Amino acid sequence: MLARLANKRIVLGVTGGIAAYKSAELIRRLRDAGAEVQVVMTAAAQHFITPLTLQALSGNPVHTDLLDPAAEAAMGHIELARWADLVLVAPASADCIARLAQGIANDLLTTLWLATRARLAIAPAMNQQMWAAPSLQANLGQLRQRGVAVFGPAAGAQACGDVGEGRMLEAVELADRCADQFDTGALTGRHVVITAGPTREAIDPVRYISNHSSGKMGFAVAEACVEAGARVTLVAGPVSLPTPGRVTRVDVTSAQEMLAAVERAVAGADIFIATAAVADYRPAQVAGQKIKKLADTLSLELVRNPDIVSTVAARPDRPLVVGFAAETEKVLDHARDKLARKRLDMIACNDVARSDIGFRSDDNALTVLWKEGECVLEKASKPTIARQLVGLIAERLPASGRKD
Ligand code: PMT
Repeated sequence: MLARLANKRIVLGVTGGIAAYKSAELIRRLRDAGAEVQVVMTAAAQHFITPLTLQALSGNPVHTDLLDPAAEAAMGHIELARWADLVLVAPASADCIARLAQGIANDLLTTLWLATRARLAIAPAMNQQMWAAPSLQANLGQLRQRGVAVFGPAAGAQACGDVGEGRMLEAVELADRCADQFDTGALTGRHVVITAGPTREAIDPVRYISNHSSGKMGFAVAEACVEAGARVTLVAGPVSLPTPGRVTRVDVTSAQEMLAAVERAVAGADIFIATAAVADYRPAQVAGQKIKKLADTLSLELVRNPDIVSTVAARPDRPLVVGFAAETEKVLDHARDKLARKRLDMIACNDVARSDIGFRSDDNALTVLWKEGECVLEKASKPTIARQLVGLIAERLPASGRKD
């Protein structure tokens, strides 16, 4: 259930109230579930708990001031509003609830609330008499009408000595309510490791053996997995592409480095997708100095690189293993052979003899094969193909491993 919070971006607004101490625990629980948390504190909140505490727990600087040029330069309020998947105000004081209901934007939190398209939620915390006040209830009614989720409050003994409704929910319950705000994706709770791009095998300090892979296909697959709710580790060869949001990227150069990075990442993973065009061979010796142009011919002795996807498929704790095949002839025959020989669960075949798809192109077309079936993915943009492929992979995952 809490797996739904993986990769989610939560802005936690903290207002002035004794329950602010529970926000510290809430941040820890949200982060444990894989969410990223940015904290916004009102001036009153800082009387109850320090920004330093919440900064240490969230791992991010705490935002306190709308008119602080330094803070705005780092992550401005509009950027923060766009960044969030969920804005939760916890504790939400009666004053803050009134300002949110009226659309007053007189501090960072209330401004951000108006500027975001994220899901909105509040966890009220106040004295039971204030909670019962008709004006407070009218404000809450307005917020609810606009789709704002109201978490709690609970009833019980209050800090002021009263007993009644108005206690903020405990952190564990608030984290569950946050998770409820998000749908379950096809890969929610799954960890996916992906290789992408080419590898470079050094000949000497200035030359290498490589291929035409741009990494576009693998990066699109990484994005599609994030969209489906997965936690993604992307092991990338040398490419010039920006890292997709919410993806953990590990940059490598050679096949041996790629294998080492994959082995570090893949323990406990649910899915391994090998889109990388890994060099099958590397020079037996890497010259220490630039090789001089002395003879008319030059012979290089090459040795086999380790096969990364086969190594993963041979693990006792193997994840679901998906390979790619770039072929120029007898595409399906060669791909079927690789499916069996490399002990893959699925293979996506690329006809790279076609100039309109495959290497470097923005488009691709795949025939996806597995033991009991196949599916043709007609030519489309790489992000579209990636989403379709992820759908096929999700259908083949053993249901028992689901972690939501
Ligand atoms: O990066 P782009 O420009 O977007 O292009 C996409 C692509 C054409 C590179 C990609 O879609 C693709 O087809 N990737 C696989 C290319 C390839 O090298 O295939 P292969 O037939 O040589 O290898 C078969 C499988 O074994 C692949 O999953 C490959 O990652 C894996 N392999 C190969 C060799 C090796 N030493 N280790 C491996 O893991």
